[in-house]
Amino acid sequence: MKKTGKLFGVGVGPGDPELITVKAVRVIKEADIVFTAASSKNKYSLAVEIASPYIAPEARIEHLGFPMTKDAGEVEAAWIANAKQIAAALEQGLTAVFLTLGDPTTYSTFGYVLKKMKCIKPDADIETIPGITSFHAASARLNRILVEGEESLLVTSGAFGGDKIRQVKQVENVAIVKAYKNITDINMALKDGGFHANGVAVSKCGRKNEEIIESLDALETREPDYWTLILASK
Ligand SMILES: C[S@@+](CC[C@H](N)C(=O)[O-])C[C@H]1O[C@@H](n2cnc3c(N)ncnc32)[C@H](O)[C@@H]1O
Repeated sequence: MKKTGKLFGVGVGPGDPELITVKAVRVIKEADIVFTAASSKNKYSLAVEIASPYIAPEARIEHLGFPMTKDAGEVEAAWIANAKQIAAALEQGLTAVFLTLGDPTTYSTFGYVLKKMKCIKPDADIETIPGITSFHAASARLNRILVEGEESLLVTSGAFGGDKIRQVKQVENVAIVKAYKNITDINMALKDGGFHANGVAVSKCGRKNEEIIESLDALETREPDYWTLILASK
């Protein structure tokens, strides 16, 4: 009987090579083929670098092109092509992993893979292996409690500025990923909501060149790195 393949969406953690789970390591070791998203311009993948001690020497590594464009049609077409490539591997009976930084269910390219696989190969056997998110790694790095008691936590993207923060009234804590642009507007929203005073930014948490930026105002006078997040509380 023909062996059926399986896809694992694997989170490899935020960058510290020790923040990868035992389960992720086992699944990566067993993979015949390793997929990762790569910008069409640059094939480097930090996720593959983190996983590399565990990738079997005979495993194939495939970089799936991820166009850096706002053209939704182009992005859609690329992910359909990528999902077809993954589906072809499963049809050959291969065990495949799709590696992502942090956690695969949190602002991850694995979201595109899951959605497109559901259309292209609805019977595919898929398992998601969670990873440590960037904001959990950052709060641990700072020995800072993310949320406690009956409080709530807003996890949001800062890419379009502070509007999401303005919209919430009943939340005591915020974790803002993609805090690399519109910082002035994010800071204004944090000030209006009473979050700003103890806010802190962490860039490249757990990686070489990690930075802890204690003053959020200081973020406005420099161009924050893409790998920057903000933690703030009332
Ligand atoms: C596309 S999201 C990926 C989130 C990831 N899946 C997770 O679980 O954390 C990218 C954003 O995550 C944050 N991020 C990821 N890794 C980080 C790190 N090591 N240090 C600080 N921020 C990080 C940054 O805000 C970055 O803009």
